[in-house]
Amino acid sequence: MVSVFLNLRQKRMDSKISKIGVFTSGGDAPGMNAALRAVVRASIFYKKEVYGIMQGYEGMISGDIVKLGARSVGNIIQRGGTILKTARSQEFRTKEGREKAYLNLKKSGVDALVAIGGDGTFTGLHKFFEEYSVPSVCIPGTIDNDLAGTDYTIGFDTATNTAVDAIDKIRDTAISHNRLFFIEVMGRNSGYIALNCGIAGGAVATIIPEESMTLEELFNKLDEGGKTNKKSSLIVVAEGSKLGGAMELAEKFSQRNNYFDIKVTILGHLQRGGTPTYFDRVLASKMGVAAVEGLLNGQKDVMVGIRNNQIVYNDFSTIINHQHEIDSESLRIAKILSI
Ligand code: F6P
Repeated sequence: MVSVFLNLRQKRMDSKISKIGVFTSGGDAPGMNAALRAVVRASIFYKKEVYGIMQGYEGMISGDIVKLGARSVGNIIQRGGTILKTARSQEFRTKEGREKAYLNLKKSGVDALVAIGGDGTFTGLHKFFEEYSVPSVCIPGTIDNDLAGTDYTIGFDTATNTAVDAIDKIRDTAISHNRLFFIEVMGRNSGYIALNCGIAGGAVATIIPEESMTLEELFNKLDEGGKTNKKSSLIVVAEGSKLGGAMELAEKFSQRNNYFDIKVTILGHLQRGGTPTYFDRVLASKMGVAAVEGLLNGQKDVMVGIRNNQIVYNDFSTIINHQHEIDSESLRIAKILSI
C-alpha cells in the first residue's frame, strides 16, 4: 500500500519548476541537516538545480544564495545545528524586506522554495506566497513539537532524549542528597518535551502550559511526598508554564517547605544541540523527499507532516495559529504514575 503511494508520488512529476531554494529558519533543531540533505539529493534525483539560502530569510534579503550539489551535503546527516545557519528575521516581516527577497530569488532563478523551520517561518512564507506566488513547501523542524498537522516535528525526539539523559543524571545526585529538584525544559508554548520527560524521567509532577494546575494543588502534592517519607523528588517544568518557571516555583515552595532541600536546574539550549537520533534522521529524510516530490507534483502553499506514519500535505491555513494539542493519553499516564 505504502509503496504504491510512493510510486504514484514519483510518477506524476512533470513540473515546470527548475531551481529549488532551500533554507533553515527560526530556532535550530537536531535533524535539520538531515532534512537539508534529503531536499538537496531528492532535487538532484529529479534533475532539478538546488540552491541553499544562508541564514534563513536574512540570506534571501541579502542575496546570500549558493548552489548546492549532492556532495555539498555529504557527512552532515549525523550533525546537529544547521550548516545553512538560521535566524529569526525581523526584516522579512516588512513588505520592503519581502520585496528584496523576491528580487534576489528572481535574480538567481529560484522558482520554488523549501523552508525547514517552525510556526514563525511558515507564517512568513505563507505571506510571501500570497504576495509573490512562489510555490513553497515547509518542513516542520522545531524541538517543541508544537505544530498542528504532524504527529512529530524534526528535533523533538533528540531534544527529549537529551533532556531525559540530563534528568537521569540529576536523579543520581537528588537521591544521594535527599533533595527536591525543579528542572526546567524548553517549550515556549508547548508542554510536549516536558510531558514526555516527566513520564520517562519518573517525575513526581510535570507542569505544562496546556494544563491548569494551581500552585496549591502542586504544593499539596509535594507536601504529600514529605508526609509519605519520600526522600527526593523531581518536578519537570515547561519553560512556558503559566504557574511560573522552575526558579519562581522553587522560591515559592521553599517559603512553606521545611522538609526538602530544594535545587533548580534549567536545561536551556543544550536541548537544541547534539547528534540527531535515528528517529529524527529518518523523519527528516522522509519529509525532505516528500517536500521536493510535493513541489514537483504541484503543491504550492503547504506543510509536510507525518500522521499515523503516512506523509501528508497540510494546507497552511490549517497550520498557522493552530497548536498541536497535547496528547491527553500521555497526560493521563503521567498522573497515574506520579503518586
Ligand atoms: O522554538 C524552539 C525554542 O527552543 C523554544 O523551546 C524556546 O522557547 C525558544 O526556541 C528559544 O529561542 P531562542 O534560541 O531564540 O532564545
